[in-house]
Amino acid sequence: MQQNYFNKLYIAMVGLPARGKSTVAAKLREGLRKEHIKVRIFNNGDLRRRLLCESSSRPDFYNPDNRVNAEQREQIAITNIKNASKYLQSDGQVAVLDATNVSLKRRRTIQRLLTDHPVLFVECINNDQEILKASITKKTEQPEFAKLDFHEAFESFNKRIQYYEFITQPLGEERNYYVLDSLNNQILEEKISENIFCNVQIRDLLVSDWVKNLFLVRHGESYFNLENRIGGDSELTPTGWEQAGALAEHFKQTNIPNIYSSTKKRTIQTAIPISGMQKNTEVMQLKEFSEIHAGICEFMSYDEIRREKPEVFYSRTKDKYNYIYPEGEGYVTLKHRVDRGLKKAIYLSGNATYIMIIGHQAVNRMILAHFLYRRKEDVPYIYTPQDRYFHIVSTQSKKLFELKRY
Ligand code: F6P
Repeated sequence: MQQNYFNKLYIAMVGLPARGKSTVAAKLREGLRKEHIKVRIFNNGDLRRRLLCESSSRPDFYNPDNRVNAEQREQIAITNIKNASKYLQSDGQVAVLDATNVSLKRRRTIQRLLTDHPVLFVECINNDQEILKASITKKTEQPEFAKLDFHEAFESFNKRIQYYEFITQPLGEERNYYVLDSLNNQILEEKISENIFCNVQIRDLLVSDWVKNLFLVRHGESYFNLENRIGGDSELTPTGWEQAGALAEHFKQTNIPNIYSSTKKRTIQTAIPISGMQKNTEVMQLKEFSEIHAGICEFMSYDEIRREKPEVFYSRTKDKYNYIYPEGEGYVTLKHRVDRGLKKAIYLSGNATYIMIIGHQAVNRMILAHFLYRRKEDVPYIYTPQDRYFHIVSTQSKKLFELKRY
């Protein structure tokens, strides 16, 4: 074995389309570059689009029985494998092959052609059907589907996935691999038989949060806020609209491609001015971000609850985190859905530098709790003003948490 065998690394992504492979590849590149390591990604999809344009977007292109196209895909893979090899032969240190690589045959080709340094396979798994559906919906917006309507593009992408499912074989014989739950950042399985360059950094990157810049905003003032009423679906007051306008103005120089609101009017309205002012922004309503449901107390003011439902008022005051409104929710039950919404938003944003969530008081407290590690009993009292936002960064190398005015 050459002396320098272990001082560089090939990483080969593995996984069906829309499983977050490119996001994980970009996260590895960014994290390793912070360590001054020279990393480059070789993406088969990009090469295919450059060489074959739209002709390769139809599902049949991926039919394994279709010899001509299978051969074209094989050639694209080999070109990238060779480019990766050249990169490591020069001054590159880590080459990432970003492609599905789901068949054993393909992985054997990679290992047969790349023998000068170890190959680490990183498989991304996400079988959450709802999030997959949302992720495929986003894929349909890519230029390669421009000539198809949404339904055709969606079906086309699904069919492509089915062809890949057909040839998928599990990892096992490969010398080094991680199997990653890419939605939850958890390693499900691992096998490391060789000395892997930067293994500690890579392993830690795989499980780290990767939130580059999250702007967490509470909706502007609503009519219910004025009356201290809870729940419901009231609209913004003129002050609320002013706050929404100020928010838009504040962020007009920052391109935020993904904005998430709840399904309630007050958050949707808060997003209107900012989405109007941004160039390429998509506002997505996530039901997971809707405010805590106060059950029998919906629409009541805190004063009315104290007078008319003292048992609710006092039990909640005693243990606000665990108290569940009759026929409604509590912070304790909110945790699961808000965590899910947060994971969904982060997953769907891919590698975006900026994302924004426009939520509600209790929902935002739960999101903040994810990053702040507060004691449970303190979570329902986190301060969430309406004229300020939280700027949150949470990556392997940086944690930032700042309350700012807009
Ligand atoms: O008052 C606004 C509001 O968003 C209500 O809709 C919600 O019930 C409440 O805040 C949550 O805050 P707390 O848990 O402090 O009552």
